Order: sequence, then C-alpha cells, then structure tokens
Amino acid sequence: MFSFGKKPQQDGVRLDPDRIPAHVAIIMDGNGRWAQQKHRPRVFGHREGMETVKRVTKYASQLGIKVLTLYAFSTENWKRPTGEVNYLMQLPVDFFDTFVPDLVKQNVRVQVMGYTQQLPEKTQKAVQDAIKATEKNDGMILNFALNYGSRAEIVSAVKKIALQVQAGQLSVDAIDEQSVAQALMTAPLAQYSDPDLLIRTSGEERLSNFLLWQLAYSELVFTDALWPDFGAAELKAAIYTYQQRDRRFGGLKK
Ligand code: FPP
Repeated sequence: MFSFGKKPQQDGVRLDPDRIPAHVAIIMDGNGRWAQQKHRPRVFGHREGMETVKRVTKYASQLGIKVLTLYAFSTENWKRPTGEVNYLMQLPVDFFDTFVPDLVKQNVRVQVMGYTQQLPEKTQKAVQDAIKATEKNDGMILNFALNYGSRAEIVSAVKKIALQVQAGQLSVDAIDEQSVAQALMTAPLAQYSDPDLLIRTSGEERLSNFLLWQLAYSELVFTDALWPDFGAAELKAAIYTYQQRDRRFGGLKK
C-alpha cells in the first residue's frame, strides 16, 4: 500500500522509512459532527468511526508503526446521553466480532488501557477475548484507551507508589521518573510507552486528559479531517509532518 524511498508517490508525499514514528497515539474526534453534516444521528458517526479504526489499523501496521494507541472512550465520556454511551460500549463488541480474524492475519496484538473493570461485562469480555486471540502476534500493538483518563491514571500511580513506600519496598528518595512511568498504564509498552506522534482529528487542538505524562516530548499534529474521513492519506500526511520536525528533547539541534 505504501512505498518508500525514491519511488514517487501518487500523492507526492514520500516518507522516510527510517523515521517512521514507533508509537502513534490518536484522539479520534469529530464523529458527531460528521454525522450531523449528513443529518444522521451522532451514533452513525461512531459506527463509521469504527470502520476508520479498521482502515487505520491496517495502514499503520503496513507502515511499520510499533504501537497505535486509540482514545476510544474517556473517563469523562460517561457524561454523554445514555443511548450514546450504550452505543459506544457496544462498538468494541461489534468491532472485535468482525475484525479479530483480520487482526490475526495482520499479526496485530490487541491491548487495552483504562479502568476496564467499570465497563459493561459484554465490553470487557469482547476486549479480553480479543487480547487472548491475538496474544501470540508480535507485530503492531493496537492499544485501545477505554474508560481512560490521564489525571485518574496519575492519581492511581501516586497511590501505587505511596503503597510501595508504606510497605517499605521503595524509599522516597528512590522515587524518580522511571518509578512513576512504571506505575502508569503504559508501562506494559516498555520502550514504546511514550508516543512519538500524537494526532488529533476534527480541528480541535487540546489534549482532553489523554496521556499527559507520556506526551511530554511527543510531536503534536492536528488535522481538520473528521475521524470518519481520516484514512491512509491523512495518516501519511501526519507522519510526513512529523518527519519534518526537529526533535530536540530539550537539547540542541544536532
Ligand atoms: C469523539 O467524537 C469520539 C468518541 C468519543 C468515540 C470514539 C470512538 C470511535 C471512533 C469508535 C471506536 C471504535 C472501537 C473499535 C472501540 P465526538 O463524538 O466527540 O465528535 P464531535 O466532537 O463531532 O461531537
């Protein structure tokens, strides 16, 4: 699907194969507006958004991305009308019902982060079954943030560390950035726990309580495309923008 290096591309964008971001995180925004533009109910946008997840997963894996983290439901999304929340809780069930065989074929491994025990049983089961069915895959990790909120995650990490101190397993002086990172929900991603690139669709330019610690040095790319309209070309354009950036991590230009 994608070609690299010297080969000219149909859309004129040529990606550097040596600088593909290892971890890409996406705030998938604009489903509701996409549906409204079509005079359809908001959930119609979420349904189409699920199809976008399938497409983007495939392209991202073909590009050689190691981890794709998708913000599917935040700890704040419970404030939405019950009908919409129920629909969003059913989506992972429908998604995995139809897409697990493709994920297996694509060698993609499913992971999840968030307060999943608060999700309905059927959603938890769908996610756990998908994790199990793909656990042997060693390609891209498709990491869903489900009932995830970064402030809550940091509070949980502080509590975890406090308990370690209380139990005498850790001294206050030994608390460092690594011990905090270890207590966060991204710890299982090991060397890929911090996204290299964050993409937010729909023209909104804020983080909405997503990966606040982990995004400290990530490149942020905002696109006007609404999530259901996002595809290979938009992902490629975002990565191209990322490749034009000079990442200094607080140091000086090489
Ligand atoms: C934000 O758009 C989107 C969400 C809160 C839900 C995201 C969910 C999906 C894209 C589908 C997830 C699929 C799986 C497989 C779990 P919005 O509703 O806030 O849009 P708006 O800002 O235009 O109203």
